[in-house]
Amino acid sequence: MQDTIQISDLIFEPYCSEADVQVRCAAIAAELNRDYQDKSPIFIAVLNGSFMFAAALMKYYIGDAQITFVKLASYHGVNSSGSVKSLMGLDVQIQGKDVVIIEDIVDTGLTLQVLSNTLMAHSPKSLKVATLLFKPLAVKHPIKPDYIGFEMPNSFFVGFGLDYNGFGRNLPTLYQLKNT
Ligand code: IMP
Ligand code: MG
Repeated sequence: MQDTIQISDLIFEPYCSEADVQVRCAAIAAELNRDYQDKSPIFIAVLNGSFMFAAALMKYYIGDAQITFVKLASYHGVNSSGSVKSLMGLDVQIQGKDVVIIEDIVDTGLTLQVLSNTLMAHSPKSLKVATLLFKPLAVKHPIKPDYIGFEMPNSFFVGFGLDYNGFGRNLPTLYQLKNT
């Protein structure tokens, strides 16, 4: 195993190997290949965090598919809920299409719920969710991803696209916040 790393004020320890991450990405791509073999899905990857997972999935995906990237802008303190998110960058027609959201992590599920509701308003034929990480103990919204790379404990992770204060996204595997 590699050593611990420091990002800003926090120490992280390796959570799994680079090979483990690749194996899970290939396994999810295989599930998608099976489920969408007669279809032409549109993958919608949510920036910034999902860029590495999206690239890995697409590398292993066989057959017709499109990919586009969206971003969710947060406006804090706009209403009583404290956070409103709006979708930016959806540049393909998804009406009547089979759509798969690609996320880095589903934590409370708020982001995914907002995104799902927004995309459903465009009347896709189907809408599924693939996420690299899922924290089942953190979920507060009634949402369950359809394809899950790893179910994680209720901790904080960086690497393979995920960041802490903007850093750590380039790490080739996952690191967990170390309890000091
Ligand atoms: P949500 O609570 O499911 O809406 O997740 C909100 C966002 O918090 C995610 O899209 C990530 O950007 C971020 N996030 C949640 N947990 C982690 C983590 O363990 N590491 C890095 N970012 C996280
Ligand atoms: Mg995200």
